[in-house]
Amino acid sequence: MELLHTRADLARLASLRSGGRLVLVPTMGALHAGHLSLVERAAARGPVVVSIFVNPTQFAPGEDFARYPRDLERDLELLRPLGPAAVFAPQVSEMYPGPDGTAVEPGPRAAVLCGARRPGHFRGVATVVVKLLNLVGPAVAVFGRKDAQQCLVLDEVVRDLALPVRLVDAPTLREPDGLAMSSRNRYLEGDDRRRAACLSRALQAARRELEAGERAVAALEDLLALHLADADVVEYAEVRRVPDLDRPERAEGRLLLAIAARVGPARLIDNLVLEVGPREVRAAALLEGGQP
Ligand code: PAF
Repeated sequence: MELLHTRADLARLASLRSGGRLVLVPTMGALHAGHLSLVERAAARGPVVVSIFVNPTQFAPGEDFARYPRDLERDLELLRPLGPAAVFAPQVSEMYPGPDGTAVEPGPRAAVLCGARRPGHFRGVATVVVKLLNLVGPAVAVFGRKDAQQCLVLDEVVRDLALPVRLVDAPTLREPDGLAMSSRNRYLEGDDRRRAACLSRALQAARRELEAGERAVAALEDLLALHLADADVVEYAEVRRVPDLDRPERAEGRLLLAIAARVGPARLIDNLVLEVGPREVRAAALLEGGQP
């Protein structure tokens, strides 16, 4: 496993890149089992490069950029047994060589849900991911479905900018009580940790309601909100259409059930992606080539 820090170091990937099979797993570090499962899935497709970079431009002023957990040594220890070809862990100056440089403005999928509450967030994500794709040159990049809107925004960026890469989304890993794995779960202690499980319980309750035949979007959103009483603040609990993230008239077809809520010091997001037919409801992927 090569440890690369600079753009110049990335030249060491030249032979793997020219084979056209490189797979990138972009992360911000503070790795957990969810990230490791992405690396395992990526490894089934080709030699893997994991990037570890806490990207300043996707945090708004007042968000948790400064306290975001960073522990490169531990991350490397967790990755070593999985045998990625390389880890790319650049400094901020390597990714942002100019003071106020060029940025990627994402399209309409970035305007709703988290995009409406975190101004500039997806611009920062799109900018850094396009840089990572250009620097590493993978054939495939694997993203966690927990960040569902991120996957769909990046899918639109890749399509609109005609980037030569295929994006794949991989399933969310969960704790035994249903809490979606996230680096930000480290902020949760005691009662906050217990209460955080309400997000996944709300999603499961909505799924059961869909399975029982409910197709009214407002009724499903009310049910989500009802099950989020344990959260301190509910930012949104919505049903959206995949892939455009528009509001559907009825809960039919490929849907994203998405929640963002604050519990104690943590802002948590969670979602379910479902294919809703006239009679059946099943788990689905967000992107073509993703596994449900
Ligand atoms: O999902 C993340 O960890 C980040 O948003 C990403 C994709 C690595 C970009 O900084």
